[in-house]
Amino acid sequence: MADTDGERESKEFHVGVPQASDGFFLKGSAHYDWGMKNRLARIFDPASGRTVMLAVDHGYFQGPTTGLERIDLSIVPLVPLADTLMLTRGALRTMIPPASRPAIVLRASGGPSVLKELSNEEIAVDIEDALRLNAAALAVQVFVGGEHETKSIHNLTRLVDAGTRYGVPVLAVTAVGKEMVRDAKYFRLATRICAELGAHYVKTYYVAIGFDTVTSCCPVPIVIAGGKKLPELDALTMARNAIDQGASGVDMGRNIFQSAAPVAMLRAVRAVVHDNATPSEAYELYQKLE
Ligand code: 5RP
Repeated sequence: MADTDGERESKEFHVGVPQASDGFFLKGSAHYDWGMKNRLARIFDPASGRTVMLAVDHGYFQGPTTGLERIDLSIVPLVPLADTLMLTRGALRTMIPPASRPAIVLRASGGPSVLKELSNEEIAVDIEDALRLNAAALAVQVFVGGEHETKSIHNLTRLVDAGTRYGVPVLAVTAVGKEMVRDAKYFRLATRICAELGAHYVKTYYVAIGFDTVTSCCPVPIVIAGGKKLPELDALTMARNAIDQGASGVDMGRNIFQSAAPVAMLRAVRAVVHDNATPSEAYELYQKLE
């Protein structure tokens, strides 16, 4: 039975003090339910409003990618430094310690390998399994302009329906075919379509001209992919430019795990994203730590 010894006669009802009814820190996310917001707040740091996602899901279509041959050896030491780990459920279950803190963004689409037409994906994870794995979000590839454009968009909308049912956000990853032009016009089209169709945040590539127009007309947060390996200072400069032009973080893979000093590089990227370091300050940090 509840112990009532500590109960006082005079209660503190604070009549006249309105209950706090705060908004939510993340772009476009104010009207979601509690669980959805809580998961987003595990991905995006509420202090900076930004995220450093470590992307290691490349094996889902290209097998043992350089730097990911042994995720247990190369990636596990990086895990505590990331806000979020983006990976497949196979890699998660077999190689990532369940006591890890970062939020898990689960690769939820797949099908074709690099040997086939990549846009021909299906949904590859059941929402129940995502919940079993305590996923903070689901990631799906969207091929706007690709051969199987409609199918990939249908994958997105089905995952948004499933995710909304259980409070799990969906990250739409804009995938660009080799033959397509990577410019602001294309990324405005692709990111806006993803957001309009319900994606809770969108991953895209940084472009040197007009990236601020991509972020400004997308009603949900945008994170940038790192893309192919660049010299460290160039990758840090790209991250700085993207953040300055409205990105809410990075979802970086090869520029971290293919760096000569992945721990140092991840710390330097964090300095840019969360501490507003300039590229040269972050590069100095990288050099100090490498
Ligand atoms: C695969 C992905 C990857 O996660 C992403 O492209 C990897 O990041 P990076 O380009 O920085 O290696 O979405 O399609």
